[in-house]
Amino acid sequence: MTIQIITIDGPSGSGKGTLAARLAAHYQYHLLDSGAIYRLLGLSLHQKDLLDTLDQADVLEQGAEIATHLDIQFLSTEKGIQILLEGDDVTETIRTERVGEFASKVAAIPVLRTALFDRQRAFAQAPGLVADGRDMATAVFPEAKAKIYLTASAESRAERRVKQLQAMGLDVKISDILANIQARDKRDMERTVAPLKPAADAYIIDSSALSIEDVFKMMTSYIDAQLTK
Ligand code: DC
Repeated sequence: MTIQIITIDGPSGSGKGTLAARLAAHYQYHLLDSGAIYRLLGLSLHQKDLLDTLDQADVLEQGAEIATHLDIQFLSTEKGIQILLEGDDVTETIRTERVGEFASKVAAIPVLRTALFDRQRAFAQAPGLVADGRDMATAVFPEAKAKIYLTASAESRAERRVKQLQAMGLDVKISDILANIQARDKRDMERTVAPLKPAADAYIIDSSALSIEDVFKMMTSYIDAQLTK
């Protein structure tokens, strides 16, 4: 039986995570949140005090070993997906800006990306997979039948993030959030290994002026056409 693969790549804040989860539920496919895997590795290396010395060859080798055997679990619960690192619940911890920084650091190191490659490929199981990330179509699942690149202007992504943080009771300045987003985009797009960019055959959607519902409809019409080809 062929395993159908749908990839969704794009910058953070484009709505990728929400849409990937909705698509996985709609098609009853598995879901790979590859950003979470980079976050888990960043957190693990930080906890082991290795994150700041990865420029040393022996530490990097140890880091790659840890990446290959990283003890992680994604559990489906009534409240959503619960994420465990070495048995500890880190579902909320890995979403913080701090762990986002750890992840971004780890993501720029080729040896660590390679070490995570097979782990990500292993998520491809019948009947299908929705893979959410930065290089799902360009590096990890180039054979995917449906490749979507979801983007949005940095300003609209900053506005959405501010709303989310305000809803959590946090007092934040849009200028700070925008600066963070621009810095992260630059790092993700300019790194030499697996930079953030659309695959040549990707369907590109700019969600700046669109609702989640609009984007979901555009995605499902494209995917339905691709999967029946
Ligand atoms: O999507 P996110 O914010 O959870 O991703 C965290 C970091 O990991 C971000 O800096 C980009 C990086 N990442 C990556 O390089 N490749 C992926 N496939 C997914 C995430």
